[in-house]
Amino acid sequence: MSGRRIAVFGAGYVGLVTGACFAELGHQVVLRDVLPEKIAALERGEIPIYEPGLDELVERNRERLRFTTDVAEAVEGAELVYVAVGTPPTYSGDADLSAVWTVVDELPDDLDRRIVLVMKSTVPVGTGDKVRAALDARGLKNVGYVSNPEFLAEGTALHDFMAPDRVVVGGFDPADADAVAELYSKLDAPIVRTDVSSAEMIKMASNAFLSTRISFINEIANVCELVGADVTAVAEGMGLDHRLGKHFLKAGIGFGGSCFPKDISALKQLAGNSGYHFQLLSSVIEVNELQKRRVIGKLQKHLGRLRGTRIALLGLAFKPGTDDMREAPSLVLASRLLAEGAQVRTWDPVASAVDLLPTATQCDSIEEAIDGANAAVIVTEWSELADLANPDVRERMANPLIIDGRNMLDPAKVRAAGFAYEGIGRPSHETGLGAATTG
Ligand SMILES: NC(=O)c1ccc[n+]([C@@H]2O[C@H](COP(=O)([O-])OP(=O)(O)OC[C@H]3O[C@@H](n4cnc5c(N)ncnc54)[C@H](O)[C@@H]3O)[C@@H](O)[C@H]2O)c1
Repeated sequence: MSGRRIAVFGAGYVGLVTGACFAELGHQVVLRDVLPEKIAALERGEIPIYEPGLDELVERNRERLRFTTDVAEAVEGAELVYVAVGTPPTYSGDADLSAVWTVVDELPDDLDRRIVLVMKSTVPVGTGDKVRAALDARGLKNVGYVSNPEFLAEGTALHDFMAPDRVVVGGFDPADADAVAELYSKLDAPIVRTDVSSAEMIKMASNAFLSTRISFINEIANVCELVGADVTAVAEGMGLDHRLGKHFLKAGIGFGGSCFPKDISALKQLAGNSGYHFQLLSSVIEVNELQKRRVIGKLQKHLGRLRGTRIALLGLAFKPGTDDMREAPSLVLASRLLAEGAQVRTWDPVASAVDLLPTATQCDSIEEAIDGANAAVIVTEWSELADLANPDVRERMANPLIIDGRNMLDPAKVRAAGFAYEGIGRPSHETGLGAATTG
């Protein structure tokens, strides 16, 4: 198959990865965004997000990638028009589809050929039906519509796009769905062909289930703390059951990011708007909110009142491998600490919270953040923190206490290095037993 001509609306996280990966697969791609400064930066070869390997991928495919703010230029000659604009939450918890509707409205009336509008953005079930009706109302019968949701995870986005577990394609017209499925023909991935609504629901239900697993293991962790079990051993023992699998069973201080919180909220609202109370999902959301705050109790247990204490928050991004701060648990944690009167010193290798947390001090190094601190909290499991429990850190801290919000350190080693240690769902004292071993 020779390369197709693809327009991608939205040069954000998903749009950039989608565009660059399609170019790598041999397609001609035009990325269109409404932000002139973003397009200008991309034209200069600057990648506005941190995603490992993305700058090299864009550079390698420069001949097949163009950037524009102009709708007509993007759509001209395109066979497929991808929508990869943001769908953030509204105050009601529903998805804000205004950017999606703008793209639909921006499509030219005088198309002289058939194009396929492909939805990559995560949208509520029923959006495809509404867009189809709007296109029909405008007389745009020669614009097809296909749902092709994206499952990539930030930090591993290129691998996830090029080696996906599956590609989901839901179309009204089989020929349009064929055209989208063909784009991925060089990839070794199962293609799930379905109707539009089911494709939309596969995306929403997948994120809801992954979030449910995280909130489930976090509740197990909270019970472990009360009964003296170690959740890391419990998760390992559970995960070896092939019916369960080991993924998304890591206890911690809750999930964040641009997808899970908004997508599960959108599904909860969608269910409610359709007359169904999605009780389980409400609990998943509530557990996650409470989980972000549990570190405060652990700090108070060791330090008493937090007013006047100095707390180092190590890691700001919602997970390692990205500078994305959307819905990052660090923001809730820092705000709670500041409200308690603590001094907050933060460190992250790539993310910044200077604007989001103006009263916290953002440090350039781990050493600077922990200097004189009464506690160090691991918020994001950056590999730079693997050796945190070392003599230099112990010497620099006013009080050698490590709260490991991601269970990334070995408690026995941390305690042997002279620190007090608190994980999530792990005994707060030495048990004499290590993590679970299999053999
Ligand atoms: N980020 C992820 O990990 C991820 C993973 C899977 C799915 N998704 C979904 O993909 C969609 C995009 O997410 P994102 O993280 O890339 O968002 P983003 O906010 O990083 O990027 C959206 C981009 O769209 C641009 N835009 C807005 N209106 C436009 C228009 N009319 N024409 C062209 N561009 C326009 C914005 O300027 C912005 O650059 C969302 O629906 C999200 O839920 C995201």
